[in-house]
Formats: sequence, C-alpha cells, structure tokens
Amino acid sequence: MPLLQVNNLSVSFDQYGRGLERFVTTPIRSLSIEIGKGEILAVVGASGSGKSLLAHAIMGILPANAIVGGEIKFKGNLIDERSIKKYRGKQIAFIPQSVNYLDPSMKVKNQVRIGLPGIKSERIEKQEHLFEKFGLKKSDGDLYPFELSGGMMRRVLFTTSMISPDTELVIADEPTPGIHRSALDLVLNQLKTIADSGIGVMLITHDIISALKIADRVSVFKDGCTVDDIPASFFSADGESLENEYTRMLWKSLPEHSFMEAI
Ligand SMILES: Nc1ncnc2c1ncn2[C@@H]1O[C@H](COP(=O)(O)OP(=O)(O)OP(=O)(O)O)[C@@H](O)[C@H]1O
Ligand SMILES: [Mg+2]
Repeated sequence: MPLLQVNNLSVSFDQYGRGLERFVTTPIRSLSIEIGKGEILAVVGASGSGKSLLAHAIMGILPANAIVGGEIKFKGNLIDERSIKKYRGKQIAFIPQSVNYLDPSMKVKNQVRIGLPGIKSERIEKQEHLFEKFGLKKSDGDLYPFELSGGMMRRVLFTTSMISPDTELVIADEPTPGIHRSALDLVLNQLKTIADSGIGVMLITHDIISALKIADRVSVFKDGCTVDDIPASFFSADGESLENEYTRMLWKSLPEHSFMEAI
C-alpha cells in the first residue's frame, strides 16, 4: 500500500468580487500523485501550477474559503482537515515554502526547540546539533526571523521539520532556493538519507536538475493538473524518453540543458 495517495484532487476558492458578487476559482483541477515508503517524488511545474496548494491540502492548512474535492489517503486512510491533525508534525512533517510560518517575535532557536522531543536540556542540545549540521552558527539561534538571510531562513525551516522520530512522510516545499551550493547539497543529502531510512519524501521544486540527483520519480504539474509521472531516469540529456510534450519542453527549456548538450 502506498504511503501517500492523492486521487483527482481539486481545490476551489469561494471568493467575493467587487460589489459582493461571489465567484469561484478552481486553481487545482485534477492532481494525482503517489509516494511509497522510502521513495522521493519530485513535484515540478510552472509557478502557479498548484504545487504549494497540494501540500497545503494534504497538511489541512488551506484557507477557510477553500473547497476540496477528490481524495487524500495516508497509509490507506482517508485524511481531511480534521483527521490530519493526528499526523501533522508527527508522522507527516512539512517544510513550508513561505517564511511566514515562523513566528516573527520569537528567536529562531526557540522555534526549533518547540518541535523537538525530550526534556529541555535534550532539546537544547538537539537544536544546537541541528544548527551545526546545517551550517548555522550557534549565535544565529539568537536572531529573529527578520534578521536571517533567505538561505539561513531555509536552513532554519529545514531544521524545524526534520524532527519527529516517528516521521514517515516529509513534504518539502522549495527547500533549496537561495541557498549556497554547499548547503544545497546538504539539504539534498539529508533528504536522501531520510528517504533511505524508509521515509517517503515529496520534494516540491523549480530546480529539476538538483531534484534529479535524489528523486526516484517526477510528477509534472500544469495549470492544476498532473500531466506526467515518470521515473527520474527518463530525464536523460536529450529527453528522448520523455513522451509528454510539456515535460520535454520543460526539460529542454532549462538553461542547464543546453549546457549539458554542449559538453
Ligand atoms: N487563497 C487563495 N485564493 C485564491 N487563489 C489562490 C489561493 N492560494 C493560491 N491560489 C492560486 O492557486 C494557484 C496555485 O498556487 P500555488 O501556490 O499552489 O502555486 P505553486 O505551483 O506553488 O507556485 P510557485 O512555484 O510560485 O510556488 C495560483 O494561481 C494562485 O494564485
Ligand atoms: Mg509554491
């Protein structure tokens, strides 16, 4: 049985326009994905194709005016906004795309410690260890979120979510933009290591080249629909294994692609 199954998910928003007339938008029309134990699924697609909304729908953190259709199953159990609560931050960890998820008024070391298991001294030790592991200085912990650079922020967000010992699924929404190459490799290696320990990983990213270093499969989103789901190995230099026109176009339009052709 797959760890996570999303079948035909749709998300609409009930909105009010000027003059209070109501209208409905449907940015997600039909998304279907599957992640097995220990598998890394890269989710790629243009900005606005619905990647973050998928993550938010799974985590049950869509705004109140969202209308969700289709089904989401975790280990065979249907999950919705209510039942996700028993998994959220426990079996299912989430690394959000937006820094708004950090409390602006709390020092970052305390935000990381909140989610850690153990008594206070153990949590402090673990937080300091995580900071070291992700190339953050001990003194960085005393900073407030607004004092961090984009890359530091990503690393702090990353440490806040790698934490529960019973995590079975990690959803990482763009964990790598704005970070240095060394930190990028660290994040990718970390995701690979946790997948190797049997945890399923959904890696949402624009950085297809980096994702391919660790992904088993790639799911391609376009305008709120899943248009392709293929093994990562299909993304070979010339894209000849890519049958889907949109996926091939996406692959060929990468700047790195022409570079790879040239060597
Ligand atoms: N609360 C909302 N109300 C109405 N529309 C929304 C809401 N949140 C997102 N959308 C719309 O849903 C679509 C998908 O948004 P989403 O954030 O999932 O994109 P994305 O694929 O994550 O993009 P990016 O790569 O830029 O992060 C967008 O067109 C966005 O405008
Ligand atoms: Mg997004």
